Amino acid sequence: MATFTSHSPEETIRFGEGLGRAARPGWVFGLSGDLGAGKTQFVKGLALGLGIKARIASPTFALVNEHRGEHATLFHLDLYRLDNNAHIVAAGLEDYLAPRDGVSVIEWFERWTGAPPERLCRVHIRVLGETGRQIDYNYDPARD
Ligand SMILES: Nc1ncnc2c1ncn2[C@@H]1O[C@H](COP(=O)(O)OP(=O)(O)OP(=O)(O)O)[C@@H](O)[C@H]1O
Ligand SMILES: [Mg+2]
Repeated sequence: MATFTSHSPEETIRFGEGLGRAARPGWVFGLSGDLGAGKTQFVKGLALGLGIKARIASPTFALVNEHRGEHATLFHLDLYRLDNNAHIVAAGLEDYLAPRDGVSVIEWFERWTGAPPERLCRVHIRVLGETGRQIDYNYDPARD
């Protein structure tokens, strides 16, 4: 696990952008952290790093938003409303855990308790204060 301390939403976005530049098709970013921790801010950065210009909003009824970028397509999922694996599978989301031609980023990833994706970067955001966030991440999705 590595740790990055963010002091503002912009810093969290820049941090995500760096990971987005490194990301390759097949990678999954599994995000966790309390409501309002900054997961969606992180996704905004990830999208920038992948060359995506579209505005990032939380997936709600659609459960997954797809954005085509210069470098890869980003699949943005939010599992908050899904209680367990059975619901995630029933919603048809299982394939996004092994994206073939894109990168998946999954908010509330801890809802998934099945087999972990093969190329997984876990990102946990902890609220330290009004604008302080501790971002713990394990970053080696490229291992073969
Ligand atoms: N250092 C920081 N990093 C990220 N967000 C921050 C930071 N400091 C303050 N914020 C604020 O915290 C909020 C984070 O909201 P965001 O929607 O990204 O959270 P979330 O983790 O996606 O929540 P949810 O679980 O509801 O999806 C924003 O209002 C943002 O401005
Ligand atoms: Mg969110």
